[in-house]
Amino acid sequence: MILEKSAILHHEAISPECFKMTLACDPSYISAVPGQFIMMHIPDGESPLLPRPFSIHRVKVSGQGDVKIQILYRVVGAMTRKMMRIREGEMVRMVGPLGRGFVLPKGACRLMIVAGGIGVAPLIFLLETMLKNGMDPKSCDFFLGAKGQEELLCREELTEMGVKLHVTTDDGSAGDHCLVTYPVQELAQTFPPDIIYACGPEAMLRCVVQMARLMSAPCQISIEALMACGIGACLGCAVEGKMKDRYLHVCSDGPVFDAETLGWD
Ligand SMILES: Cc1cc2nc3c(=O)[nH]c(=O)nc-3n(C[C@H](O)[C@H](O)[C@H](O)COP(=O)(O)OP(=O)(O)OC[C@H]3O[C@@H](n4cnc5c(N)ncnc54)[C@H](O)[C@@H]3O)c2cc1C
Ligand code: FES
Repeated sequence: MILEKSAILHHEAISPECFKMTLACDPSYISAVPGQFIMMHIPDGESPLLPRPFSIHRVKVSGQGDVKIQILYRVVGAMTRKMMRIREGEMVRMVGPLGRGFVLPKGACRLMIVAGGIGVAPLIFLLETMLKNGMDPKSCDFFLGAKGQEELLCREELTEMGVKLHVTTDDGSAGDHCLVTYPVQELAQTFPPDIIYACGPEAMLRCVVQMARLMSAPCQISIEALMACGIGACLGCAVEGKMKDRYLHVCSDGPVFDAETLGWD
């Protein structure tokens, strides 16, 4: 875990509400695991005092060996409104890589990845890592869902990666007109997966977890919670564990959990 001042190398809007930010970072990020996150703070004296968590979307190494990370974020409140105005060359404070990430499958298997909205951010890093490890892209059904076409992120990258891509929107403006969980259920009934990975809104995740249980398929989900410290110190990100008398902390026990360790009935 490194606390550093980091320069914004590139910053672009990828939809009216979503941005991609590339940041210079410590070389140790080369060992970051998909699903891990950073805590970011803008040291301008005006931005929210508490840093905010963002998943690592990609780790890149330049020809000169410099390491950089990308985050993908949606503008929802005070901090993200500040972030969208940051220009290339300006500095932010960040701590990372933090938390526990996804556990990669051992050997060849049939997998499903389910992304809802901005939840696609860590799943691109996951998919890229698995492809680098030699996974056949055709062994992966990737379900990409969003409210509408404008919120549908990373569609082109996913097409280029060669996975079997299933696109849905709630309003029917792109892909199939349904919730993203609908094609997951349809396909899983005929071709049950060996493992499911998911990130997105809680309602979507709860539905995916129910389906995984019915199929007895292992399921790893990345969940969100309000975070103040990101390192297990403030206990503000507690969620109920399977053992109802035990709380888990999203920042240090997660944010990626085996669904069966959570108290989600
Ligand atoms: C591990 C982790 C990884 C994340 N990765 C990403 C990412 O890659 N891209 C991205 O856009 N966002 C991500 N988020 C969510 C992101 O941290 C929040 O959107 C951000 O903190 C909002 O800050 P803000 O000051 O702009 O909004 P605020 O003013 O703090 O909040 C605006 C609204 O969003 C709600 N909210 C804020 N944070 C959360 C949260 N964590 N969970 C549920 N509701 C929340 C608030 O209750 C409020 O209604 C992640 C969250 C976690 C915990
Ligand atoms: S955010 Fe402080 S303990 Fe998790």
